[in-house]
Amino acid sequence: MKKFLFALLMVCLPAVVQAAASAYPTDSMKPDLRDQASLQRGMALYVNRCMGCHSMEFQRFERTADDIGLPHDLVEEYLIRGDLKIHDQMTIAMSKTDAAGWFGAPPPDLTLEARLRGTDWLYTYLRTFYRDDSRPWGVNNALFKDVGMPNVLEDLQGVVINNCTSEELEARGGFSGTLDPLTGTRSGQCLTVQAGTGSMSPAEFDQAIYDLVNFMAYVGEPSRLQSERIGTYVLIFLAIFTFFAYLLKREYWRDIH
Ligand code: HEC
Repeated sequence: MKKFLFALLMVCLPAVVQAAASAYPTDSMKPDLRDQASLQRGMALYVNRCMGCHSMEFQRFERTADDIGLPHDLVEEYLIRGDLKIHDQMTIAMSKTDAAGWFGAPPPDLTLEARLRGTDWLYTYLRTFYRDDSRPWGVNNALFKDVGMPNVLEDLQGVVINNCTSEELEARGGFSGTLDPLTGTRSGQCLTVQAGTGSMSPAEFDQAIYDLVNFMAYVGEPSRLQSERIGTYVLIFLAIFTFFAYLLKREYWRDIH
C-alpha cells in the first residue's frame, strides 16, 4: 500500500509543481523549431547579449550551426569569441567565483533553462525587467523578485517603469495588458515602457525575445527537430509496410480457403 501511495505521489507531483508555478500570470509563446530564421536571430542575440555571462556548456557551436542552418564559416567569423572553435562547447571565460562576487549569485548555465523554467516563463521574464532604484543594478523583475541579473536589453526595449505596488505586480504580472498597435503603448498592466527610450518598438522587442526563447527551446532539446523528421519517415515506412503485409496476408489466406 505504501509503495502504491508513493507511486501515486510521484505521478501527481509534476502536476502539483506545475500548478504552483503557473499561479503567476505569464505571457505565452509557442516555440517553432522549424522557423530557422527565428532560431538564427535568436542565436545571434544570445551570443551577443547573454554569452558574456551565461554559458551553454552542453551544446556545441557546430551542432547548433548545422541544426539551425548556419554555415560554419559565418558562425566562426561572427558568433564565436576568443579562442573557441566551431567544434567547441559554448563555454564562457568568466569564472563562477568572480561572478558570484559581482552579482551575488553566479549566472547559471542556460543549456537546459527552457526545460527547467518553461518557455512562457522565459518569454515573460526577459520582457519584465523594470527600473527599481532600491536594487544594486537599479533594476528588478516582475517574475523574478530581487533578481541579481542587470537589465542587459534596456537599450533595445527602453526604460520600463512599474506603476504598481509589488503585491499588485505579483498578482497581475508584467505586460499581460493589451498592446495598442497604433501608439505602441500597452494598457491595463503594471509596467509601461517610456516612449522613445528604446531602439525597438514593443512589437519588435517581443519578436526579438520570441526568437531568443525559441533558440533556447531548441538548445534545451536539440534532437527534437531530428526526431520529428525521423518520425515522419517511420510513419511513411509503417504505412507502406502495412500495405505489403496486407497483400501477403491475402495471398496466404487464398490457399487456405
Ligand atoms: C552581466 C551578466 C549577465 C548577462 C549579460 C545576462 N545575464 Fe542572465 N543572469 C545573470 C545573473 C547574475 C543571474 C542570476 C540572478 C539571480 O539568481 O538572482 C542571471 C539569471 C538569469 C536567468 C534565470 C536563471 C534561473 O533560472 O534562476 C535567466 C533565464 C537569464 N539570466 C537569461 C539571460 C539571457 C537570455 C540573457 C541575454 C539576453 C542574459 N541572461 C544576460 C547575469 C547576466
